Amino acid sequence: MTPAQAQQRIADLRAQITRADELYYKRAKPEISDFEYDEAKRELADLEGKFPQFASADSPTQRVGDDRVQGFQEVAHRQKMLSLDNTYNEAELRAFHTRLAKLLGTDDLSYTVEPKIDGLAVSLTYENGQFVRAVTRGKGDRGDDVTANVRTIHSLPMQLAKGEGRGAKGEMPRTVEIRGEIYLPAAEFERINAERAAAGEELYANPRNLAAGTIKQLDSAEVARRKLEIVLYGLGYCEPAVVESQTGLQKKLSAWGLPVVEKSWTVHGIDAAWAAVGELDRMRHGFAYGTDGAVVKLDSADQQREAGETAKAPRWAIAYKFKPETARTRLHAITIQVGKTGILSPVAELEPVLLAGSTISRATLHNEDEIRRKDIRIGDLVEIEKAGEVIPAVLQSFPAERPKGAREYDLFAAVGGKCPVCGSKIARIEVAAEDATGVAWKCQNYDCEAQRAGRLGFFCSRRALAIDGVGGVVAAKLVELGHVQDPPDLYDVPLGTLATLNLGTVEEPRVFGEKNATKIVAAREAARALPLEKWLYALSVPDVGETTARELGRRHRSFAELVDSPLLRAVSQKAERVAQREWEAPASRKNPAKSDEDKARRKELCIRLEAEIAALEAGPLAGVPADIGPAVAASAQEFFASVPGRRLLKKLDHLGIDPQGTVATAGVFTGKTLVLTGTLPTLKREEAEQKILAAGGKVSGSVSKKTSYVLAGEEAGSKLDKAKELGVPVIAEAEFLRLLAGG
Ligand code: IVH
Repeated sequence: MTPAQAQQRIADLRAQITRADELYYKRAKPEISDFEYDEAKRELADLEGKFPQFASADSPTQRVGDDRVQGFQEVAHRQKMLSLDNTYNEAELRAFHTRLAKLLGTDDLSYTVEPKIDGLAVSLTYENGQFVRAVTRGKGDRGDDVTANVRTIHSLPMQLAKGEGRGAKGEMPRTVEIRGEIYLPAAEFERINAERAAAGEELYANPRNLAAGTIKQLDSAEVARRKLEIVLYGLGYCEPAVVESQTGLQKKLSAWGLPVVEKSWTVHGIDAAWAAVGELDRMRHGFAYGTDGAVVKLDSADQQREAGETAKAPRWAIAYKFKPETARTRLHAITIQVGKTGILSPVAELEPVLLAGSTISRATLHNEDEIRRKDIRIGDLVEIEKAGEVIPAVLQSFPAERPKGAREYDLFAAVGGKCPVCGSKIARIEVAAEDATGVAWKCQNYDCEAQRAGRLGFFCSRRALAIDGVGGVVAAKLVELGHVQDPPDLYDVPLGTLATLNLGTVEEPRVFGEKNATKIVAAREAARALPLEKWLYALSVPDVGETTARELGRRHRSFAELVDSPLLRAVSQKAERVAQREWEAPASRKNPAKSDEDKARRKELCIRLEAEIAALEAGPLAGVPADIGPAVAASAQEFFASVPGRRLLKKLDHLGIDPQGTVATAGVFTGKTLVLTGTLPTLKREEAEQKILAAGGKVSGSVSKKTSYVLAGEEAGSKLDKAKELGVPVIAEAEFLRLLAGG
């Protein structure tokens, strides 16, 4: 490999890993397997070693992932949360031992071997035995404060027990950071996915993603409904130090009443450690949490200190990763599914094969780029993987065993350049959506049956209008039979039609039934009262996701106001001026000033543009979050002006549906900032927030001198302490409601 080739490959790998990190840590929606990810990282580290001239401090090999998302307060860890180095084979595990023996000057080393829990890392702080805070790993030095959500975990004690575990010293540290992993038990994962399937919603890929998504929910009541669990296995900052070994730590954690790993081994020497790794692999499927490997740790705390750590990981511990289960089978065909946004997704139709306990006949192929990259062709022998994931994925093909004449897959040609559902034109588009990224083909027909059905299913889903009972199958049927064109048409479908809907075939009918139909009618009536933000989200306006819908719904009183929104206009106007200023800047690279006169004129123009931008920012755009950017503004404005957009609004009008925005009006909390903490006796967090906003107030995530009130409920944490410290008035729910009522 020439240096130039290496440089290119390094750049590619860095981009690939950065993207995978974003999908894994922030969106909890990985597209590549852990194995592929680790392979990419390893190749990158190799190349950086061989070509040190291209090494860089911000390479993914030099940093831990970053899980931080918007909406949470950031908190610094007292002691950095590190990552672990990975190995995939016995030789590397033995090399770990050899390294340590050399470093410590003895090969008389004891290890603990523990399961590597496939959840998400969290650091809990206890002060004098009292739980005060839970923070995600974040970037390693600081993470997101998820205290409220972690409080919903029933098995986690809020107060550590004083019980004296064997080998423990008995005292309670003043401040201790305890590290562990949050996970979702398999049964709970299946329950949630079954519910989603019934509601026609997209399924979560695996328990880890669902757990990660759950802990990053802003609504703790929602989190409480999903029964998260936790396992603790490590220490961060601890004052004073309380343990001498990893084995001692486990006993201590247990004595404090904390959930710990189900099984661990304390062994002497690397042979015994390797044997324990094998034993763990054989029994791990019986654990409550998913495991993707074993963690081998030096047992002695003194030796751990002596071995130290790199910027990224301790030298005294290593993860041995079990390979996910894979199988080989034939790819018979590639079929195409069309989603609610019209994106064409390829699906592998396989010769049925047994894998990880179930028979697999379909697997995801993600998108055309992925098929090309992996050189997968119809007729190929392929390897598929199921790493605790619901949807198996195709890992690779074996070109050496390819049938003659198998040609490179061409999606456009395969569908004859038309949408396989409606026959309309398809176009290549760039997508940055959650479900498909990169380049994709898209059906251009808004009225495509697949898109209609997808939108109707989404409209009724839990996160949208929660019209339970209309899942994917019912939605597809209603569209197929012509009962529903746009989601609001659901309101015009008579009870009798719903009740007699045949979801089966002519030969084997499966009638929807009176009871189910009655439920739908009740749910659709209840949905009429939902606020603008929910309706906006439910109508699948391009680029308007949940957060954007919420922000827009809190800044407009109705659809009528939104359609002619001064705010969206201002966003577009600002974007235009910013672009123009860039172009007209006298030193603009693409458009440099031609003369002194030109320079002077443009300088003046830029000053004027700058003033206009400032005026927009201070005026209509004051307090508008970055979520509402120019792309969203353009999309929303275009949609409501388009034929389908106007058609939707007309239908809502005809149905008498006029959802109200929760716009801040002048009220008792005008000019006031409130902070919520703990669980309130009757109000959900979101309800309380809405009330504050509706009464003109602001809600903040952290207490400062500027905070007007702290609204505190049960198990209020550090925010309450902070309020007391700063002398900020603390009110309970009753008092809050009295203030709202003007009392
Ligand atoms: S000890 C200094 N023990 O795996 C880091 N980590 O891939 C020491 N993990 O960051 C970590 N199970 O989030 C340790 N039994 C276990 C673990 C474990 C899962 C996680 C942890 C770590 C990541 C590295």
